[in-house]
Amino acid sequence: KRLVILISGRGSNMEAIVKACSAEGWPAEVAAVISNRPDAAGLAFAAQHGIATAVVDHKAFDSREAFDAALAQAIDGFAPDLVVLAGFMRILTPGFTARYARRMLNIHPSLLPAFTGLHTHERAIEMGCKLAGVTVHFVTAELDHGAIVMQAAVPVLPGDDAKALGARVLGAEHRIYPQSVRWFVEGALVWEGEVVRHRDGAP
Ligand code: GRF
Repeated sequence: KRLVILISGRGSNMEAIVKACSAEGWPAEVAAVISNRPDAAGLAFAAQHGIATAVVDHKAFDSREAFDAALAQAIDGFAPDLVVLAGFMRILTPGFTARYARRMLNIHPSLLPAFTGLHTHERAIEMGCKLAGVTVHFVTAELDHGAIVMQAAVPVLPGDDAKALGARVLGAEHRIYPQSVRWFVEGALVWEGEVVRHRDGAP
């Protein structure tokens, strides 16, 4: 299977997936890492690991449709089986999400359906949540919706600020995103209507 990973910044989730893919011998290769920002730090890691990189700068386009069309062209050049959004911070058009239906994953730093959108850790702390966490889900037209593949919870501890909680959640991200991608490339995910689950019933 061929993966294309989309990033906008640091790329630590992309790094975790690249490392797990080679260390665990998945039936998959990371064909390319594409960023919408030329200065994304993660591009250097990908290049150092011999992975093709590309930039599709959203600032060069005057509409979301035009940007998404260029992005789709760049992605399709690598003929991926799965598109992995890893800290990719652009809203995608319905045409784009439909094109990659059931073959595009996202990671969102909350226990969906709670806290879609930005500033999830601040909001969890403000609400007095005792648990926070992270969700890997398939991408649909509606932001931070779509079938849930895997979630992990972490405690919200007394005195946490968004940075401390975010760091704890990030540790969980680096565990469940590679695992989720692995399930996809191994063909372990089974659809039941709009819901997806592991074929052996793994949680
Ligand atoms: C992660 O917390 C991810 O959940 C969120 O953006 C962050 C990206 O981090 N959407 P990185 O670029 O993978 O290091």
